Amino acid sequence: MKIGIDRLGLYSPNYYVDLAELATARGVDPNKFIIGIGQSEQAVPPAAEDVVTMGANAASEFIDDIDQSKLGMVILGTETGIDASKSGAVIIQNLLQLPKHVRTYEIKQACYGGTAGLMAARDYVAAHPDRTALVIAADIARYGLASGGEVTQGAGAVAMLISADPKIMTIEDDSAFLSDDIMDFWRPVYTDLALAKGKYSTEKYIEFFQQAWAEYKQSTGLDLADFAAINCHLPYTKMGMKALKTVLPDEDEQTQARINARYAESTNYSRRIGNIYTGSLYLALISLLESSTDLHAGDRLGMFSYGSGAVGEFYSGFLQEGYATYLNKDGHLQHLNDRKKLSVAEYETMFNSKVPYAAADFATDTTLNTGKFQLTGVVDQERKYVRL
Ligand code: CAA
Repeated sequence: MKIGIDRLGLYSPNYYVDLAELATARGVDPNKFIIGIGQSEQAVPPAAEDVVTMGANAASEFIDDIDQSKLGMVILGTETGIDASKSGAVIIQNLLQLPKHVRTYEIKQACYGGTAGLMAARDYVAAHPDRTALVIAADIARYGLASGGEVTQGAGAVAMLISADPKIMTIEDDSAFLSDDIMDFWRPVYTDLALAKGKYSTEKYIEFFQQAWAEYKQSTGLDLADFAAINCHLPYTKMGMKALKTVLPDEDEQTQARINARYAESTNYSRRIGNIYTGSLYLALISLLESSTDLHAGDRLGMFSYGSGAVGEFYSGFLQEGYATYLNKDGHLQHLNDRKKLSVAEYETMFNSKVPYAAADFATDTTLNTGKFQLTGVVDQERKYVRL
């Protein structure tokens, strides 16, 4: 039985900061951010947006077109959840007015949470082929103003419907994965700013890629020549290529050229949105599918997921006949192009305006553009959401 991604939705905030301007404000050569890191723009979420509103917005791209009576699971993968106990998935379920008889929960393992959700959904559909699962990967990457990680911030969500006979891409049962207890990136519960050992985290990403890929090659007998493209988790657009470069020289020129060209296409959206942590690999997939004119039904795509702390997984999927019909290239590009550019001062104000870690009531600025869903504030320590 074929199981995989039947529908894809994407949402990212309507505000961004230009990274050449940010570099100048920070006294850094703009080429470091644009060429060295590979980021041009960074999505900036207003306080009225969080992983719940962004996740609901991403799913709303297709949720009214699917048979909701088949839905058996709603999973939110996130590392920037809005409560240490209650899952954001139940709030998304309510905002989208989904059926009540579904299993609904949140998964956390840094940027691996979306893939963990996807694999749980795959197993669920394998056991219940007539059912579907909604998996949402949503995050707000925050390191702090003028911090080393500031250039790799971002915000957004990807929603995926997992089903039998998927319309976009299968998820093959060929995963190679590994886990190890390391401290490369983490976020204590008292802060919304992530901590990272920058250089060490990039080294670990590469190591996990190499080990997952070696294990995958051995267990499947496949090689890079068997892939039309490799999508990678993209904390910033240079990262995946740093890992791929360690294995590409073993390949023939044609394979190298193909993997390089498709990789560049997979980074188009990340370059303009930034890191969306657990959604980043799936943002790369959407970017590739909507940017490339060199992909065909039957092509095998590789997927490398990395979640600090750390878990790495490599798996593959086959593109399905007519997959392009189910994408939303024009809508996504229009959304990115229509966003409002913030000055660095406006970005800093928006960055600091977030819901504080405090028991006091808080009202967000609901005049800002948040798509169809909005966090209006916190009253008596309860977050309040509306559907607009
Ligand atoms: N023109 C062109 N390139 C320039 C340049 C210039 N003027 N100045 C510097 N560069 C290049 C450097 O040569 C370097 O290139 P290479 O990586 O190819 O060597 C690149 O720009 C970056 O320079 P630095 O290494 O000096 O950058 P940095 O010290 O500012 O750190 C970072 C970069 C580690 C990514 C930092 O932004 C950070 O800590 N980010 C958060 C952590 C992170 O994203 N880690 C990724 C792996 S962990 C993961 O994947 C999970 C996750 O999502 C967080």
